[in-house]
Amino acid sequence: MSTSIDTTDSEDAVSHPAMTLGAGSGRMLDFIQQLSLNERDAMKAMLGDQVSSFFDSNNRLRRDQESSVEQFDLLAETLRNLTPHSDTIPANGIAYRGSPAWVTADLLLKLQEEAHSRRDQPLDRMDHFLGCGGQVADALSVSPELVEFVAEHVGPVSPTGIASYLYYDQAGLGIRPHVDTEVFSVNLILMLRHEYEAGSEPSATVVFPARSEPEAYRLQIGEVMIMHGSSVIHGRSLVQQGEDIHLLTIGFNRIFPGN
Ligand SMILES: [Fe+2]
Repeated sequence: MSTSIDTTDSEDAVSHPAMTLGAGSGRMLDFIQQLSLNERDAMKAMLGDQVSSFFDSNNRLRRDQESSVEQFDLLAETLRNLTPHSDTIPANGIAYRGSPAWVTADLLLKLQEEAHSRRDQPLDRMDHFLGCGGQVADALSVSPELVEFVAEHVGPVSPTGIASYLYYDQAGLGIRPHVDTEVFSVNLILMLRHEYEAGSEPSATVVFPARSEPEAYRLQIGEVMIMHGSSVIHGRSLVQQGEDIHLLTIGFNRIFPGN
C-alpha cells in the first residue's frame, strides 16, 4: 500500500475526439435566457437525469458515435448555461486546488480521526458510503475563516452547514457522473486518506467540461479542491482492489445581489 502523491495530469484524463457543435448551441442559449429561474431549475433537473446515459459502467464517457459526443457536449454546455451566473464560473468548474494554511496538521489529524471513527457506524450506501459530518467537520463547515476562504475563490457564499465524510473502500465503488443541485452549488473537498496498491491506477475525481478533455484530479492528503458542482458534470472513477479513500465534502451556496 502507498500513500497517494498523484497530481492532475492529462494522461490520466479520459480522452475523446475533438468536436464542434452546430447551431444548436446558440439556439439553446437563446432559449435558456427566456426562462424564469424556476423553469431553469426544472429543465436542469430533467437534463441532469440524462447525464448517466452518456457513460459506460466504468464511469467513462462513451465515444462510440460522433453524434453522441456532440449531444453530450450540448448537454454539458446547457447544464452549465442553466446555472445562475455561469459566466463567472471557470469552464471546468474548478475554482481552487491547493493546500491552504487553514488545513493545519492538527485540524487534519482531528478530521482524519473523526472520519475513521465514524466509518464503522451505519452509513448510507449509494455507489460510495456516505456519513454525516461530526463535531469537528460540522464546526469547520460554518467557520468564518472557511467561509471567507471559499468566498475568496467563488465570490460571496453562505454555508449550508452540510459536511459529509465519503468513504470509497471497496473495489467498484465510485460516483456516477452527475451535476449537483443549486442547494449545494459549491462543493469543497478535502482529501483525508488515500491508499492504493502499487501499480494500480488510483481512483480520481473527474470533471467533464463541454467541448474539452475530461480532467482527472487526485488530491494529496490535506489538499483541497473547490468545485462548482452544479455547473460541471463530475464523478469519481471506480475504486480498485485494495484502494481506500476518505474524503470530507462541505457544501456552500453562492450569494448574488438581490437574493
Ligand atoms: Fe456531486
